[in-house]
Amino acid sequence: MDEYELTNQRENKAIARVIISFLKYEEYTLKEIYSLRVKKWESISERQKLLIPNYPKYLVSLKAAIQENGKFFKSVAEYAMQSINLASEEIVQPNNLDMSKTCSLLTQVYREWSAEAISERSCLHSRLVPFLKAEVPSEADILIPGCGTGRLLVDLGQMGYNCEGNEYSYHMLLVSQYLLNAGLNQNQTIVYPFIHCFSHWKRNEDQLSPIKIPDIAACSLSKGKGSMSICAGSFVDCYGRNQGTKISSHYTFSRRMQLSRAKAENSKDVVITNFFIDTGSNILDYLDTIVHVLKPGGIWCNFGPLLYHFENDHGVETTYEVNPYSGFQDKINDYTPLMGIELSSDDIIHIATNHLNFTLIQRESGITCGYGRYAGLESCAMPGYLCHFWILRWNPTNES
Ligand SMILES: C[S@@+](CC[C@H](N)C(=O)[O-])C[C@H]1O[C@@H](n2cnc3c(N)ncnc32)[C@H](O)[C@@H]1O
Repeated sequence: MDEYELTNQRENKAIARVIISFLKYEEYTLKEIYSLRVKKWESISERQKLLIPNYPKYLVSLKAAIQENGKFFKSVAEYAMQSINLASEEIVQPNNLDMSKTCSLLTQVYREWSAEAISERSCLHSRLVPFLKAEVPSEADILIPGCGTGRLLVDLGQMGYNCEGNEYSYHMLLVSQYLLNAGLNQNQTIVYPFIHCFSHWKRNEDQLSPIKIPDIAACSLSKGKGSMSICAGSFVDCYGRNQGTKISSHYTFSRRMQLSRAKAENSKDVVITNFFIDTGSNILDYLDTIVHVLKPGGIWCNFGPLLYHFENDHGVETTYEVNPYSGFQDKINDYTPLMGIELSSDDIIHIATNHLNFTLIQRESGITCGYGRYAGLESCAMPGYLCHFWILRWNPTNES
């Protein structure tokens, strides 16, 4: 089996596992979320049951909401199965982490594809769109790493930009494929995104809020505007430099990825990182990759918190250097920590402007923005994230 066949086989297995996790959502959630609450209610004394007479009714509604979410995931799975042949040897059962990622997709879908979450999306839009309109001609090439389920691609595609998303989570990729390509009508489906969170509510009805999705029919909207595509894989692996980056769990040394990276060099007018820049275990690899893909004069726009995903992760990975010509491996370190290099926004701007030839155009900090947060503020105590926003222009003729 050659490199391409092996990669395809690995990818098919990973996709199959996610599809099965979608098909199992209802069964899993009824067992892990609903049944335990029924048991808890049954376990309390008759006197205490009288104190919460509405709880049985609440449980009935919770069960109905889970079943409705299950229908959504079943449709996503069925759509995905049209383009993948699930051979039995490829079926690996999802684990608890797969299932919890599936559950959390509901808030992602709410964030990106509901009318209720528009104020959340506009934290970036209200800053980015005026700048793009004034400074970046339509038909420019935009890259959105960590694009989630792809909504920003549609919004910017509507403005005539050619948008490429990049995403490494098959959970996200399969849902984006469904929402972008399955031809859904506006408000066709109902999901209950908040039922997996049992804390902070003022009223139970808020937790059980039905949300109609998608708020726009992406398929019919995109005709005649900018192009749209999503590249599956790790950002640094797909778009990073071919030299000077250590091999790690997010950067491989394969012919396929080397070609992808060579093609990516100086290919984009704009890179937009939205709730993304803090997701890696080495943010400097992200910065190098952004520089690598931008055309001279290109723009990097960032929005989001600096909530480093690996800051409390005690895991390790193997990293090493590779000579791109001989394939010789050097400086192998099997215990490179995942945590570390959690740069502040000042650090990032300093590196970008003093060492990577960027010029600062706009910068703001302390912007409060939710992430999949229930929109009825009165009913929920989740305050959102303190976000950083900046726009930088890359001008390689600057002296560093
Ligand atoms: C916090 S979410 C933000 C999603 C979307 N941009 C939004 O604002 O709703 C971060 C996204 O980045 C993706 N991601 C994390 N690390 C990645 C990597 N190395 N390459 C590509 N995508 C990555 C995750 O799967 C996830 O979808």
